[in-house]
Amino acid sequence: MVIPGSQHIEEELFQPTEDLQREAHVPDFSTYLTLYKKSTEEPEAFWTEVAKDFFWKSPPAGDILQYNFDVTKGNIYVKFMEGAKTNMCYNVLDRNVHDKNMGDRVAFYWEGNSPDHQVSITYSQLLAQVCRCANVLKRMGVRKGDRVAIYLPMIPELVCAMLACARVGAIHSIVFAGFSSESLCERILDAQCSFLVTADGVYRGEKLINLKQIADEALERCRDRASFSVKKCIVVRHHALRMKKGAASNKLQTPWNADCDVWWDEEMESASEECEPEWLDAEEPLFILYTSGSTGKPKGVLHTTAGYMLYTALTFKYVFDYHPSDVYWCTADIGWITGHSYITYGPLANGATSVLFEGVPVHPHVGRFWEIIEKYGVTKFYTAPTAIRLLMKYGREPVQKYNLSSLRILGTVGEPINPEAWHWYHEVVGQRRCPVVDTFWQTETGGHVLTPLPAATPLKPGSATLPFFGVQPTILNEHGEELEGEAEGYLVFQKPWPGIMRTVYGNQERFENTYFKKFPGFYVTGDGCRRDKDGYYWITGRIDDMLNVSGHLMSTAEVEAALTEHAAVAEAAVVSRPHVVKGECLYCFVTLKDGREFSHTLSEELKKQVRGKIGPIATPDFIQNAPGLPKTRSGKIMRRILRQIARNEKDLGDLSTLADPKVVEVLFSQRCEAAA
Ligand code: WTA
Repeated sequence: MVIPGSQHIEEELFQPTEDLQREAHVPDFSTYLTLYKKSTEEPEAFWTEVAKDFFWKSPPAGDILQYNFDVTKGNIYVKFMEGAKTNMCYNVLDRNVHDKNMGDRVAFYWEGNSPDHQVSITYSQLLAQVCRCANVLKRMGVRKGDRVAIYLPMIPELVCAMLACARVGAIHSIVFAGFSSESLCERILDAQCSFLVTADGVYRGEKLINLKQIADEALERCRDRASFSVKKCIVVRHHALRMKKGAASNKLQTPWNADCDVWWDEEMESASEECEPEWLDAEEPLFILYTSGSTGKPKGVLHTTAGYMLYTALTFKYVFDYHPSDVYWCTADIGWITGHSYITYGPLANGATSVLFEGVPVHPHVGRFWEIIEKYGVTKFYTAPTAIRLLMKYGREPVQKYNLSSLRILGTVGEPINPEAWHWYHEVVGQRRCPVVDTFWQTETGGHVLTPLPAATPLKPGSATLPFFGVQPTILNEHGEELEGEAEGYLVFQKPWPGIMRTVYGNQERFENTYFKKFPGFYVTGDGCRRDKDGYYWITGRIDDMLNVSGHLMSTAEVEAALTEHAAVAEAAVVSRPHVVKGECLYCFVTLKDGREFSHTLSEELKKQVRGKIGPIATPDFIQNAPGLPKTRSGKIMRRILRQIARNEKDLGDLSTLADPKVVEVLFSQRCEAAA
């Protein structure tokens, strides 16, 4: 590999600052290269060294890393440190409190939706609460291997519940609290969860959400299905306890089902603060997290214990160059993988102090993020391009009102960051002092896979730069041939790293078909990628039928299914269109059934329908009436053409494969200019 930038000086390159390099774990590019070489040439030695920092009840039995990535040679599997026994919760809490004597250190500064709600939680307090919760779970019958669905807002009980599951060896399946009852029901059934943890209600910005009611609707929907097995629903009294009493808007009716519901606080009161962890095999499951699948049905990505633990801990330490004096803040929701890996597990494994934020970026004012950074003296800040673009709209003034001099490193995740947003983040938020680590990864990868290291990697705005330790990216062309040097194609990986997913829960076949079938021998990310002269990687976006709205992946199929469930719709096709804040937004073409008329009311109804079926993140921006859709003679919808219509790109190229090229003209004449 050459020194980045040495070949074409005209390219914009941001060198690490000496200030950061002085105390960094990986202080320069050559150290990165040396460590990278070791991690790929001697993975056993590399990871054995990393594992020394953790507690093992018993050591691994054989090879540290065993795997098969080639479908033609049999089942796909990855095993890391198999035979070793450990417990995630013990490692992120007890080890810090007892072995490292860090009990009094703050684990989380919880900041509520309203700026006057806050709580600090130390490592010992968190350990005590988690043990109580683990005892509550055990008392209710939760056993090792049971699946527990968690549908909670960003409150301390969410972290507590997930760690309590880890402590007793139960598998948590966290469902983002912005998902609809239908999405929750689908996930509960797929994982056959036997317990559900939720809350009474929560404010998101100005909006009061009756979470328990949505959870009840979900349970109601699932109840008569064969795989339904929820025995108890534990309800956190969040709204009722933490909100100011008396305000008119605070009224919330919490539906109650005495057969199944229990209050969290009542159960916790009598539970003991001592709880021996369940010692699990390194390869026993830690959690399931659903991610959109291109067929429309979400996939339960399964992560196991030891590999995920080591990988999230190490990426957190190096990518954010973690030091004990840091106050770290990741604005993601724990309902997504970013929150799992970089709010809960990675930071806690390092004994870090983090901000846990319940609210939204613009409530009660557009400077909320910057206010919080000043309030807690945040040093490392991790957010998404969509949030940056949203806040950019309000200009510099709301940022400059606050003292952000504590900041040292900025991070982004979720989608490619456009150079304009990168520069604004770097200049206005980071005051040109803080490197921006653009971290590329997926729910499936468990942790960062392509990422700069802040004191070592020269940055190029818009590039996720280079692989993390142990990760070997490859670019393939359509025929599966490996491309060397400067190239563009499919981003794949030939070998596993410890944090990669192990299977799709309950569906190994889908796991193999989705990720390993297209190019035998490789894990296929589904992303397109370009490698430049310096070996830097640039993600060019999804190459399957997936959409990325505000950093949230969703499939065209799931949105289309939500639309076609409406009585007026015969057929639907969904594509993305660029959006200044969301990155991409949904542009839907609907063909109505005979006798139905398109109207503004119908369009609004359809938007509501998608919101209701999937959740507010999936609300379409555009619905266009499509008397016909561009199809090939074999009946396949040509999304490329629809995408071009949505984007008003007139040069459509070859239309000869279409059964009826005339539909294109009609669709162009009726396209939506601005969001209705
Ligand atoms: C996209 C989120 C470009 C990508 C952690 C990936 C990115 C999908 C980046 C995974 C980035 C994530 N640059 N694209 N830095 N980070 N993506 O599973 O398309 O919610 O495949 O995991 O987001 O989304 P997921």
